[in-house]
Order: sequence, then structure tokens, then C-alpha cells
Amino acid sequence: MNKNTVTLTNNRNGKSYEFDILDATVGPSVINISTLYKETGMFTYDEGYTSTASCKSDITYIDGGAGKLMYRGYDISYLSKEKTFLDTAYLLLNGELPTEDELGAFSFEMQKRSFVHEGVKKLFDAFPDRAHPMAILSAGVSALSTFYYKHLDITSPQEYKEMSNRIVAKIPTLAALSYRYSNGLPIIYPDMDKGFTENFLCMLRGYPHEYVELKEIEIKALDTIFTLHADHEQNASTTAVRNLASTNAHPYAAISAGIGALWGRSHGGANESVIRQLEMIGTVDRVDEFIAKAKDKNDPFRLMGFGHRVYKNFDPRATVLKNIRNELMDELCIDSELVEVANKIEQIALNDDYFISRGLYPNIDFYSGLILQALKIPKDMFAVIFVIGRTPGWIAQWSELNQQKTVKIARPRQLYIGPNDRTPEH
Ligand code: SDX
Repeated sequence: MNKNTVTLTNNRNGKSYEFDILDATVGPSVINISTLYKETGMFTYDEGYTSTASCKSDITYIDGGAGKLMYRGYDISYLSKEKTFLDTAYLLLNGELPTEDELGAFSFEMQKRSFVHEGVKKLFDAFPDRAHPMAILSAGVSALSTFYYKHLDITSPQEYKEMSNRIVAKIPTLAALSYRYSNGLPIIYPDMDKGFTENFLCMLRGYPHEYVELKEIEIKALDTIFTLHADHEQNASTTAVRNLASTNAHPYAAISAGIGALWGRSHGGANESVIRQLEMIGTVDRVDEFIAKAKDKNDPFRLMGFGHRVYKNFDPRATVLKNIRNELMDELCIDSELVEVANKIEQIALNDDYFISRGLYPNIDFYSGLILQALKIPKDMFAVIFVIGRTPGWIAQWSELNQQKTVKIARPRQLYIGPNDRTPEH
């Protein structure tokens, strides 16, 4: 018997089919079923792709059972503690951690490219007050391509390296602009003397002619949050980015689509929903009522920040953020009442069979919001923070697909359950 294949038998016709097993460097092997339809005349069915690998990748690996996350083979606990977000972005984009000189050059490239075309402001002027920053950001990234229309040749490695750096560098500026415009605040331009994360905080919180008082721990906390969000295998928004990459769409369109997918409250919008949910619950004596709602099959209420498609153990990113939250409670003036409610939810859920039996643990979003709120970042900017962190990962995934020898356009099939051959009514 061939140990490198699996055999599928169709009991309707007694036919058997062999499919190759492809082994991973680490983690689950896959069954290569790319010829299944041709051989069997049938499709596989896997709603939400719970058991489907959509690609080969050497960027990020998650061990959901062990609660482990690696970027290019480096554990997230090492990167979040010992390295900066720019180190991590460079690692994701280039496959190796930067030397000191490489980091210096990359940091200068980010500063140099952090300015956006003045014409972008006319676009932002069109948005109504209080427009959600994620809507503005998604439109802004897509619109960037109109200002760099001469540089959209993705077949040239140099060009798409420039596009990649341009997008990573401009996202924080667009993000800050999204916030300033949606609140009618004066624009703060990037400062060539400031690093990536400090620059963003100043563009967000600054005022013309007023020095922004930033604590080092605030910059480090946000930089760590960016690192923890930088990539995460083939999640929903990365899948959206890869789908656009497979059609040869340029990265501005792909990242704009990723922002749209991430905005959903089941995905990157959960961090904002977690804080709103904690505020709605309000006090620890109401926690039991909402835990019961979360467990009630007839109640659409879900515990935001709990559960994950891959982690059936603690999300390692949540562990890092929980430690930051606890360490910086006083220095960052984190809302202790909301922390009490969050701790009570966690304490009950982690001892309740409903959550344990389903592998529902706190995910990254359960803790990030409390820290972001303490960094004076408004709730409707939480998903935008996620975008800034995730952009290097999205770009790395987009580039990886485009560098494949052959790129197959993403085109799933379906199980058709609709009407057949209807005759038109007279
Ligand atoms: C992110 O994919 C990624 O990697 C995403 C992300 C990234 O970095 O890109 O990690 C970022 O999106 C984190 C997740 C943020 N979302 C939330 O916190 C929203 C709340 N969580 C759920 O909506 C849910 O847990 C998901 C969407 C995160 C995962 O959904 P799955 O894997 O499709 O699981 P499921 O919906 O099939 O649920 C399995 C069971 C169901 O119960 P049964 O039908 O088995 O009885 O668990 C229950 C669900 O009802 N369940 C929950 C729950 N999450 C799942 N019940 C109550 N509260 C919840 N939060």
C-alpha cells in the first residue's frame, strides 16, 4: 500500500481513487484533491473552509492546539518582546530579520514614503462628518492607485517592492487622516524625525503647534500590538487579499478588499465590539446574564473576543496582551471597571463546559481594546489599528502568491440546490 496517498472509494459505483498526501514542514499534511472533480465528477464541500488548505505558504504558522504562532519561523513571544514592529514587517516582507543597517534603511524608507499625495485630501473632504474611519481608509487605499498609476506594473519585482513599501508606509498616515477628517480635526503631517509607531500616535493625537506628550511605554505597547496583528495565515481578510492577487489585481485594490473583510465584527471588527460589549454589561453582577445569552442557541448574542477558528486553546497573542494590560494597568490608566468585567467573563467562561467543550478561549480582540482605549485611541479606530499591523502580512501574502511560477485564479465551485429547467409561466 502506498504510504504517500489516500484512497477514496465511491460506494455508489465501487470505484476507488488515489490522491497524494503532501507533507508540511510542521503541522497537518494535506490531501491534494486538485484532480478530484476530473476523476470523480464530484466536488468537495467545506463551508467556511474548516478543513481546506487554499495555498502553500512559508510565511506564518499557527498551532491551534498548542496556542503557538510563528512568523517566518520566529515565535511571536520572541518577536513581540525582543523586536520592533518594523523588524517584524521587514521579516514578513523579506523572509529574514533585518540587520541594523537594513533596519535603518527600511525605517528611512517608511519615513520618506509616509507622506500622501495632497490630492488625497480632496477625496477625504467628500466624506460626511463621523464617517467610520474603516470606510474612509478602504476608499483611501484604493484611491492611492490613482496617484501612482504609472507604477502599477506587478510583473516587475522592483515595482511591486516599491508598491509594497509605499502601502505599508502610507497606511498609518491614511489611518490618521481618516480619524482627523471624521472628527473635523486639523491634519498633522508625518514627522521625518519620528519612528513608525510614534509618528502615527502623533498624527492621531497631535495638534498644530502643540507638543504631544507620549510616554515610551505607550509607544512600545502600540508597537507590540502592531507586531501581534502583523499576519495570521489564511484568515478571512488575507483570503480576500489572495483572491484579488489571483486575478492580477494590484495591491492597492487587494489591501482595500482586505480592509473591507477585516471590518466585519466576526473578524477584525471584534476589538471594537468587545469594548462596546463590556460597556453594555457594565458591572460584574450582570456577567452571568450575558454568559447565559452567549450559551443560548436561540439567542444570536455572542461573547465578542471569545472563540477562534484555529485556536482551540489560548490565543498566544491574547496572552502577550493580557500581560501588557496587567503590567501597565496603572501607568496607562486602563479602565479598571471594564477590566473587572472582562476578568469575570474570562473566569466564568474558562470554567464553563459550554466554552471548554467548544474550545472557546479569549482571542487577541478580548484584550487589545482595553489597551487601545488607554492609549486614547477611539473605539471606531480599533479595527484601523488592526489594519496598520496586518498590512505587512497582507502584502507578504499577496507577493508570495504573485511570485509563484503559476498563479491559478481563485474560483471555487458550489453545491447547487436551486430550481432546474423551469418553464416560464404563460
Ligand atoms: C479574528 O481567522 C483568524 O485568524 C482571525 C484573526 C486574525 O488574526 O486574522 O485571529 C482575528 O478575527 C479573531 C476572532 C474575532 N472574532 C470574535 O471574537 C467574534 C466572536 N467569535 C465568534 O464569532 C467565532 O468564535 C469565530 C468567528 C471567531 C470563529 O467561528 P467558527 O470557527 O466558525 O466557529 P463556529 O461559529 O462554528 O462556532 C463553534 C461553536 C458554535 O456552537 P455549536 O453550533 O457547536 O453549538 O462555538 C460557538 C458556536 O455557537 N461559539 C460561540 C462563540 N464563538 C463560537 N458561542 C458564544 N460566543 C462566541 N464568541
